[in-house]
Amino acid sequence: ALRSMGTNDLDALRKEIIDAAAAAQSPRDLDGVRVGALGKKGTITERMKGLGKLDGEARKAAGQALNALKNEVAGAIEARKAALEDAEIDARLATESIDVSLPIRPQAQGRIHPISQAHDEVVSIFGEMGFSVAEGPDIETDWHNFTALNIPPEHPARQMHDTFYLAAGEGRNSGGEEDKDRPGVLLRTHTSPVQIRTMQSVEPPIRILVPGRTYRCDSDMTHTPMFHQFEGLVIDRKTHMGHLKGCLIEFCRAYFEVDDVPVRFRPSHFPFTEPSAEVDIGCTHTRDGIKIGAGDDWLEILGCGMVHPKVLANCGIDPEEFQGFAFGMGAERIAMLKYGIPDLRTFFEADLRWLRHYGFVPLEIPSLTGGLGG
Ligand code: PHE
Repeated sequence: ALRSMGTNDLDALRKEIIDAAAAAQSPRDLDGVRVGALGKKGTITERMKGLGKLDGEARKAAGQALNALKNEVAGAIEARKAALEDAEIDARLATESIDVSLPIRPQAQGRIHPISQAHDEVVSIFGEMGFSVAEGPDIETDWHNFTALNIPPEHPARQMHDTFYLAAGEGRNSGGEEDKDRPGVLLRTHTSPVQIRTMQSVEPPIRILVPGRTYRCDSDMTHTPMFHQFEGLVIDRKTHMGHLKGCLIEFCRAYFEVDDVPVRFRPSHFPFTEPSAEVDIGCTHTRDGIKIGAGDDWLEILGCGMVHPKVLANCGIDPEEFQGFAFGMGAERIAMLKYGIPDLRTFFEADLRWLRHYGFVPLEIPSLTGGLGG
């Protein structure tokens, strides 16, 4: 027993245990090392037990040496344990890592058509201004599309509208005979007949935005037989031209996302508004196309005016009591300008490559607070 307490012997034991701890590859291995040294029958424990056989000074010296060894070994085992645990966490992190830059699977491929995108943006802008959305039928009566809008049968504006007639003229069926029950119907040439339908069916105050399809018998680079318009109508007791201007200037700034976009009201003529104006916005022609904003040129984007007293009267609204404004704009036109789409006809070709390029991601819903996108 005396011999086994020698310093050389303790050095060898220290080296053996510490090497074993360093070599342990798992917490289990390491626990084996701990039990082997410090457990009930461990090598160090056994030697502690042997201390009783020594006497006096020798016992004290050997006890101190064993205690020091015990502490050193326990420290080495603790350190190895921490290292093994760290390694285990690192290994788990390496296998469980997620590349957050990867697209979701299956990859979302659908895209929102630019016309739908323009619709959502325009509705959100006018919605914020207190307008609600109204709609009307694509197949209209001659009266709603023209007569009620102060465009009587012989009015030259009717020729300008290149109308698709569905029956052979007012009051005639397709055989050309008089048909009192089936007045002339047509594909609406503008969204303005929805002004009429709304004024006939609801009491002022009115504040509506009308998105919809419109049709004209015309087809070339800049015209398609079907296109879309956004119509606006505001009727109240004191609505005046200042409101029209403020509303449309605000719209132009919000839609084109250019705070200082110049807006010009140019006198014009529509049978259903008086006075009438066309609205132009400032732009510059650059090598890459048209840039909206202060520049040296103008782009016409919409028609507007104060609702004609005759139109109010045609809908049973007293023009002495109520007045208001209306506007109409081409949806494809404002979409082309904002999104830089050069060719109108591509809107209707249903070409998936075009849609992938010019379309919008479905989860990015345009709003004034969240951003319009585009
Ligand atoms: N309906 C007109 C058009 O299609 C546009 C317009 C609407 C003009 C409302 C003035 C007021 O050309």
